Amino acid sequence: MVRRSEVIDHPFRNFEHAGWEQAAAAYAETFGTVTSLFAPALLDAAGLRENMDLLEVACGSGFVAAAAAARGARATGVDFSANMVAEARKRYPALRFQNADAEELPFPDAAFDCVVINFGVHHFPFPQRALCEAHRVLRAGGRAAFTVWAAPEQNALHGIVTQAIREAGDAGVALPASPSGTVTETATCRQLLLEAGFDSSTLQVGTTEALVSVASARSLIDIFVTGAVRMAAVIKSQPREKLPGIFAAAEKAAERYRGKEGLRIPATAILAVGTK
Ligand SMILES: C[S@@+](CC[C@H](N)C(=O)[O-])C[C@H]1O[C@@H](n2cnc3c(N)ncnc32)[C@H](O)[C@@H]1O
Repeated sequence: MVRRSEVIDHPFRNFEHAGWEQAAAAYAETFGTVTSLFAPALLDAAGLRENMDLLEVACGSGFVAAAAAARGARATGVDFSANMVAEARKRYPALRFQNADAEELPFPDAAFDCVVINFGVHHFPFPQRALCEAHRVLRAGGRAAFTVWAAPEQNALHGIVTQAIREAGDAGVALPASPSGTVTETATCRQLLLEAGFDSSTLQVGTTEALVSVASARSLIDIFVTGAVRMAAVIKSQPREKLPGIFAAAEKAAERYRGKEGLRIPATAILAVGTK
């Protein structure tokens, strides 16, 4: 088990924390427009019904908690970024949002019927610890459901930008790495749920897709720069003279997703669910 001081002081956590504090003001209008596309599938997977107690971990600007409340649930959101919590409270004043770390939830055992984490798990230094916490705060029979991005090779949203940087930019930018490795495979998600104590016969882990409408690949890059953390840091650290080449490579790659309705880029996520 990881000691508390390591959870709070880890360089990866500090990098993520600083980044999300900075992204919070723009998040809902930028990257939040993409993550929110997955909220209905996530709430369905969590088995959410009216009058249930739902906890959204890593709630960002609170969209998923608000969608749960609109379905008649009592929704609570937590996030480790004070700026995100402030945004969520401003947008949804009737809901309860708290500043808390996913790896150390400030709730008693068996307090919720559902726990959902929309695109948060891969940002935690120790996702295993966060899923153990989700399991702890769930009532018996309650479900935890989470989404993470599929690997760039299976996910055009990230793949277009990653590949453009690989082709025309500087792919070797040094950023703090997660001590737990990446969470982009269904097997990893399944393992996280199993090790946290979720009933193996209840696990459902698969991919799900949404189409993201953008005016151009450049505007997709802007969404990452203003509303995300890791990809934003990679893009911001590119040598200035390489940016035109990166933008051109991304535009070229995005063209295959242009149809009658303009550019619609497939975003592929892993959706994982388990029952306590
Ligand atoms: C990609 S955003 C997702 C926000 C929201 N769930 C959504 O669907 O738009 C990731 C969120 O995770 C939060 N986060 C990252 N690490 C965290 C941690 N250790 N504990 C709690 N929140 C964390 C960030 O502050 C950020 O709001």
